[in-house]
Amino acid sequence: MSLPPDSYGAFARVYDKALGELFFRGIAQVLRALEVEYPTAKKTHLDIACGTGLAMRHFISRGWKSTGADASYAMASRARARGLDVMVADFRDLALLGRFERITCLYDSLNHILDRDDLLRAFSCVEPLLDDSSLFWFDLNDPASYDGVWAIAEPYVSSGEDYHLEIATRYDEPANFASARVVGWHDVDGERHLIDETHYQRSWYRDEVISLLAEAGLETVDVFGFDPFASRVFEAVEVKEMYVARRVR
Ligand SMILES: C[S@@+](CC[C@H](N)C(=O)[O-])C[C@H]1O[C@@H](n2cnc3c(N)ncnc32)[C@H](O)[C@@H]1O
Repeated sequence: MSLPPDSYGAFARVYDKALGELFFRGIAQVLRALEVEYPTAKKTHLDIACGTGLAMRHFISRGWKSTGADASYAMASRARARGLDVMVADFRDLALLGRFERITCLYDSLNHILDRDDLLRAFSCVEPLLDDSSLFWFDLNDPASYDGVWAIAEPYVSSGEDYHLEIATRYDEPANFASARVVGWHDVDGERHLIDETHYQRSWYRDEVISLLAEAGLETVDVFGFDPFASRVFEAVEVKEMYVARRVR
């Protein structure tokens, strides 16, 4: 069970500049708000699909011990280069020991799951890692954002001195199937590395997610919309949904 071989490969080199940092600026506000709403003295954190480790660094800077897991060796390597404790693991098959006070899975990582049973497996892997006071915070794309954002004709373009990236997204609504082709290049020490990979996603509706969480032994405490890119939290334009879940007590 693995990601498509080209997924988050060469793209990992420019992920932070092209997407990661932009998302992180928005999600950091949400994470801070959640920390205030759900205070705890226990500071153990696990970031599932941690990517290059931006959220882990956030937690560490706030006094947490943070562990990460990601299926992409290239993304995990970027995080490890930052000195972070990251393992390469698929979230549908996460076999970890221990309990974590907060588990996060951010930036629509769970939308990469295309199959109901796989989402149930991912949630079922989280359940034994929570204790009675633990919370699982994860976001998913608001289903409406696939028609509104993913179906636009123009690619998303991000450029810098040493890279250029274009992300062309498509959404097939009847099939509930979205794709993002990531094409570009990155210059390192005078050498040009080409990027050409495709990621696949699907939307997950709130009722379905809440019911799968329950099947995995998790109860939903809260769900709210937010838009990380406009840095507006809890406003009318919502492109993502944040879930707060816990183990059924
Ligand atoms: C959009 S990135 C988000 C990375 C990070 N959470 C962040 O906020 O920057 C999606 C991440 O999900 C990871 N991913 C996708 N499918 C996965 C799977 N089956 N198991 C674990 N990680 C997966 C990818 O490797 C990638 O790092």
